[in-house]
Amino acid sequence: MTRKLQVVAVSGGLQRPSRTLALVEGIVTSMAQRLPIDVHLIELGEIAHLYGGITHPAALPDEVKAEIAAVESADLLVVASPVYRASFTGLFKHFFDFIHYEALIDVPVLLAATGGSDRHALVIEHQLRPLFSFFQALTLPIGVYGAETDLQSYRVSSPALQERIDLAVERALPLLSHRNVAISLGVQA
Ligand SMILES: Cc1cc2nc3c(=O)[nH]c(=O)nc-3n(C[C@H](O)[C@H](O)[C@H](O)COP(=O)(O)O)c2cc1C
Repeated sequence: MTRKLQVVAVSGGLQRPSRTLALVEGIVTSMAQRLPIDVHLIELGEIAHLYGGITHPAALPDEVKAEIAAVESADLLVVASPVYRASFTGLFKHFFDFIHYEALIDVPVLLAATGGSDRHALVIEHQLRPLFSFFQALTLPIGVYGAETDLQSYRVSSPALQERIDLAVERALPLLSHRNVAISLGVQA
C-alpha cells in the first residue's frame, strides 16, 4: 500500500510577512516537485500567544496540542527559525520543549534558518542540529540558511539559495525511509 509522505513544516517566524516562512515554502515546494507529499504547515507566530506563557503541557490549549501531535506523528519534519541573538528564537525552543523526548527518534528533519546576514549561518550546525540530536532525530545532511539578501520581497530570490534548497532535498531522498513510507516514493538510488 502506498501513501503520501506526511511532511510537517514548522516556521519559527514570529511576524508576517516572514522570510522564514518564505524559506519553508521554498523547501516544501522543492520537495513536492520530487515526492508525493502532504504538507501541514505550522507558523509559530500564529500560535505563540497560545503557548508562550505556558510551562506545563497539560495547560496547553487544544489548538497547540494538535500541532504538537502533528509534529510527533510526522514522517518528515522541516524546521526553520529566524536567528535571534545568534540562536533560534526562544519561542521556537519553547515549542519544541513540549515535544515528547522520544517522539522524533529516527525521524528525518531538514534544518533551516534565516538571518540578517551570512554571519550566523552556522546556527544550523551549532544550535539546531544539537537540539534535534537530543531528540535522536535523523537530521538531514544539508541544512539551508537564507540571509535577508537571499529572500528579497519575502520569497526565495537568489539562485544560490534555490540551488541549496534543491540540493538539500535531493540529498534527503535516500534517507526518507522512516515509518516505511519510502516504498511509495519512487526514490532513485
Ligand atoms: C530580535 C531580533 C534579533 C535578531 N538577531 C539576529 C542575529 O543575531 N543574527 C542575524 O543574522 N540576524 C538577526 N536578526 C535578523 C533576523 O534573523 C532576520 O531578519 C530573519 O530573516 C527574520 O525572519 P522573519 O522574517 O521570518 O521574521 C534578528 C532579528 C530580530 C527581530
